[in-house]
Amino acid sequence: MADAGDDRYRRFPDGFFARMDQGPDVDFYREARLVTHIDDGAIASVGTIYRELGLTGRILDVMSSWVSHFEEPPRCLVAAGMNARELAANDAATGALIVDLNRHQGLPFADGSFDGATCCVSVDYLVRPLEVFDEVARVLRPGAVFCTTFSNRCFPTKVIQGWAQTDDRTHVAIVSEYYRLSGPWTGLEVVSATGERPGDPLYAVWARRA
Ligand SMILES: C[S@@+](CC[C@H](N)C(=O)[O-])C[C@H]1O[C@@H](n2cnc3c(N)ncnc32)[C@H](O)[C@@H]1O
Repeated sequence: MADAGDDRYRRFPDGFFARMDQGPDVDFYREARLVTHIDDGAIASVGTIYRELGLTGRILDVMSSWVSHFEEPPRCLVAAGMNARELAANDAATGALIVDLNRHQGLPFADGSFDGATCCVSVDYLVRPLEVFDEVARVLRPGAVFCTTFSNRCFPTKVIQGWAQTDDRTHVAIVSEYYRLSGPWTGLEVVSATGERPGDPLYAVWARRA
């Protein structure tokens, strides 16, 4: 059992949420990384998905950095992440929140106060994903989308073992399970946006706040 405090974690095997580097995330993310973590084709796919999902208005980008990948920045974009310098460099962001979601899953926002939420190439670092997904659901208005995107690259010491030891297809199933076990969500959808292009694969899983 992965977590004694929440029965939902019984579905995941022992050690699923363990990481090679068990040290505080604040240490690992102290240095700003002003880099892109996926190639241009994958970044373009993320932007296309956000546009097609109509992610506009007041948006929360969790596990954010200096880029949020919108083709057109939303009217209001709150970037929540670990590194203040990265978030300050995010031109699309209109607000920033420093938060370690592996220590505190609470978000300091009112119920239903966002029109959408995103999490790009980062869901694999969460050790308490169900509480984070619950909390994102809480701050979204009914009908708002939470879109999670990911590729096949990661910081190997910080990724959960359940992700490190499985393939892309299983990663899609893992994230889908996070949505099923949290929320409330409705209309779960999965897309592989890799298509015929070369380079980094890109998968998206999203659902709407019920
Ligand atoms: C691979 S980067 C992706 C950044 C950005 N979303 C992007 O698309 O380029 C992983 C991000 O997850 C964030 N992150 C990692 N662990 C976190 C945690 N415990 N709480 C909140 N954010 C975290 C870091 O700040 C980092 O910017």
